[in-house]
Amino acid sequence: MIHVRIPATSANLGPGFDALGLALALYNEVEARDADAVSVAIEGHGAGDLATDARNVVVRGVRLAHEAAGRPFKGVALRCVNRIPASRGLGSSAAAWVGGLVAGNALLGGTLDRDALLALATRSEGHPDNVAAALHGGLTVSCLEGDAVRAIALPVPPALTWVALIPEVRSATAEARAVLPATVPRSDAIFNVQRVALLLASLSAGRFEMLATALDDRLHQPYRLKLFPWMPAVADAARAAGAAGCVLSGAGPSLLAVVAGDGTAVARAMEAALGAARIQGSAHAFDVDTAGATVREV
Ligand code: HSE
Repeated sequence: MIHVRIPATSANLGPGFDALGLALALYNEVEARDADAVSVAIEGHGAGDLATDARNVVVRGVRLAHEAAGRPFKGVALRCVNRIPASRGLGSSAAAWVGGLVAGNALLGGTLDRDALLALATRSEGHPDNVAAALHGGLTVSCLEGDAVRAIALPVPPALTWVALIPEVRSATAEARAVLPATVPRSDAIFNVQRVALLLASLSAGRFEMLATALDDRLHQPYRLKLFPWMPAVADAARAAGAAGCVLSGAGPSLLAVVAGDGTAVARAMEAALGAARIQGSAHAFDVDTAGATVREV
């Protein structure tokens, strides 16, 4: 039996649209064993809701690993424990693809390397940011080059606390991409290039006073306001409570605040501001996951 643990991920981090991802210590687990047919038992988020047959994304990941390795796929018996809520901008879909691919690869003896798994997961899921962070852990920078995905995991300063506000509403990534324009003014492109570079520089130099500037974005968040009109009020509340910045987590609706110090006051302020907009939700401080997807035999 193979056991895989996969972290939640927060993509973009403001200006790093489709390029940055941060792995958080909130995990889905997959147990997998070879079988002659497909069976899936799901606990936690999505139980009674997600497909339990060959359409299940974790199963599709296991199958894809077999196809990529040139090996026949007869079936697999899966037990999935889902702690990452779906459709909230916390990488549940990336976790499912990465979990299936890593489990399938382990069942085959590990013939595919991490670069191959990353390319397969990116092609399946659509974007490299969440899958790179889910696979590698830490803060990942990812870049498409043809069919290949270049990714580097960077260390994250331990002095920072990451607070995720998870609303009790769902949002589909496809819808949150449909509101984005096909082209942007050059001034906006320059605005983001400057900030994503400043963000990585301020994290590596420990210059957290730059984060307020560095987390700003003009490529996706302004357009997504129409889907999440409460976002500015929650971000203002987070900053007023001490956050250095507050951004949309991936394609939303979750928000991610970064705090130099304890995150409790920021979490409560974000919950209160969301509640004032008559939306339920809860905020939690998460450690950064540095391991990425881990696999072991049980
Ligand atoms: N970068 C993506 C987006 C997140 O914001 O649409 C999903 O990978």
